[in-house]
Amino acid sequence: NGRCVVAVDGPSGSGKSTVSRRLAGAIDARYLDTGAMYRAVTWAVLRFGIDPQDADRIGKVVGEIDLEIGVDPQAPSVRADGVAVDQEIRGPEVTAAVSAVAAVPAVRHLMVARQREIIAAAGRIVVEGRDIGAVVAPDADLKVYLTASADARARRRSAEYAADVTATAADLARRDTFDSSRAASPLRQADDAVVLDTTELGIDEVVARLLELLRDTD
Ligand code: C5P
Repeated sequence: NGRCVVAVDGPSGSGKSTVSRRLAGAIDARYLDTGAMYRAVTWAVLRFGIDPQDADRIGKVVGEIDLEIGVDPQAPSVRADGVAVDQEIRGPEVTAAVSAVAAVPAVRHLMVARQREIIAAAGRIVVEGRDIGAVVAPDADLKVYLTASADARARRRSAEYAADVTATAADLARRDTFDSSRAASPLRQADDAVVLDTTELGIDEVVARLLELLRDTD
């Protein structure tokens, strides 16, 4: 049970969260949801009454936001300024604003530093996000990039959030385009990532495939 860092990147609805948590449980590792960190910062920005487009003000306050991240794969948690925000950060207000907030260079800078600390402290951890293999943990033991058809992703997300499929599809397309075209650290897959299309795969199959890949890296 030594040090092991697994980077799981991919767009929303690719199955990242479910797969990452299951994998972490299976290899007795911690689990870090970096999207939840960007969402928690966004929640705090909105609570301050700051316009999510106001990059200057966001850059000035982000250092004052106190984030507490729980990395138990059975019960991941996030607190912002002492408030448990696990539910709120999945709501429509945060979801609509998170891409703009995550594009602010000062936000990325702080979050990436924080993520590296959490990874170093945990030692054995599955980390999910968009830039983990390329930026946060370029020396990860295994890098995977999960994809799925736009249809499959919209279906999964709308089921997960009990939301309308058409609206979810539009929101996913909007965030994907924004996230991959922004100036500060656009989202991209690491050159050495294993790409896995999950459109036709169940969660168990994806997890089994990742366990196999991990065995091969030993
Ligand atoms: O994965 P999730 O949908 O929770 O991520 C929310 C948003 O956070 C993404 O749309 C993206 O804008 C941002 N994000 C990011 N870098 C990460 C993880 C998430 O920019 N590593």
